[in-house]
Amino acid sequence: MARILTGIQSTGAPHLGNLLGAIRPAIDLAHQEDNESFLFIADMHSLTQIKGGSELRENTYAVAAAWMAFGLDTSRTAFYRQSDVAEVTELAWYLNCFFPYQRLTLAHSFKDKSDRLEDVNSGLFSYPMLMAADILLYDADYVPVGKDQLQHLEMTRDVASRFNHKMGETFVVPKELVQQETQLIPGVDGEKMSKSKGNTLNIFDAPNALKKHINKNIVTDATPLEDSKDPNGSVVWELYKLVASESDATDMAAKLRAGGYGWGHAKKDLLDALVDGFAKERDEFNRLMNDRAMLDAELSKGAERARSVAQPVLQRVRSKIGF
Ligand code: ADP
Ligand code: TRP
Repeated sequence: MARILTGIQSTGAPHLGNLLGAIRPAIDLAHQEDNESFLFIADMHSLTQIKGGSELRENTYAVAAAWMAFGLDTSRTAFYRQSDVAEVTELAWYLNCFFPYQRLTLAHSFKDKSDRLEDVNSGLFSYPMLMAADILLYDADYVPVGKDQLQHLEMTRDVASRFNHKMGETFVVPKELVQQETQLIPGVDGEKMSKSKGNTLNIFDAPNALKKHINKNIVTDATPLEDSKDPNGSVVWELYKLVASESDATDMAAKLRAGGYGWGHAKKDLLDALVDGFAKERDEFNRLMNDRAMLDAELSKGAERARSVAQPVLQRVRSKIGF
């Protein structure tokens, strides 16, 4: 049995790219019979950027509700808030003391962020050690991550090995599971969908808001209604293909090629596919967002399970250190 662990940034309700590109595959992985999985919302990492209690809290709820609405089974996965298991900050301190300052200065993500952000705090700098603690605290074997997180994983392996070498075998040295972006979901402008580009589609929005957004922001060319259009490469059809059935997608392509079917019609069909296709998930998301007590209860249950694994590991570390 392998123990799989991953963290999710709490940056608000996930968009269609996150849902199809990351959340669905991660849930499939977490539900595989032989795996024991730990999934947490990295709200302490978010604190490096978000200074506002209600925003941080709301983001966590939205992320939790989205994962659960997409079918995450919390009886099979420890699903928790990072901040509910404060043991992680203690371990992060120990790891900081075993990792060379110089190595941290080489982190790409710090460089990217410090070039871009106004608030360049020390938390941002030691971010990789908190992430290493997230992983090592649970003896995780595998960590599914996107390519952008590979350097952090390397640092995690490095600090675990350094500690093991100096203090004796203590940590499981984890391996990364690189999530290939097999499905690169385009945004409304045709570029990769990303929060930072402001080109997202949020399927949890109310249908009316989604309609306005699609009509206003999805780019199309100026081919007149009656003319034939090439579906390939058009943002509307590329998105439609990802959410509609194969036969509906083929149908739309044929209608676009035939002429007499405009981009406005295609947008309307895309909207219907999103609204109807994710009706169950949207209802569940809204139900959960209106039942914070339920979300709190689920996350607390996950934290309890997480803590029961974390505490003995931390004890192991403390005794090696000499505390
Ligand atoms: P964003 O770019 O919107 O900030 P994140 O970097 O937080 O998104 O990504 C969270 C997860 O969602 C990652 O695993 C990432 O690979 C996946 N993801 C994000 N955008 C897309 C996309 N357009 N297509 C496929 N997967 C995506
Ligand atoms: N840094 C990760 C990201 O930006 C989130 C994260 C925090 C994480 N701790 C983790 C991912 C531990 C995997 C394991 O996406």
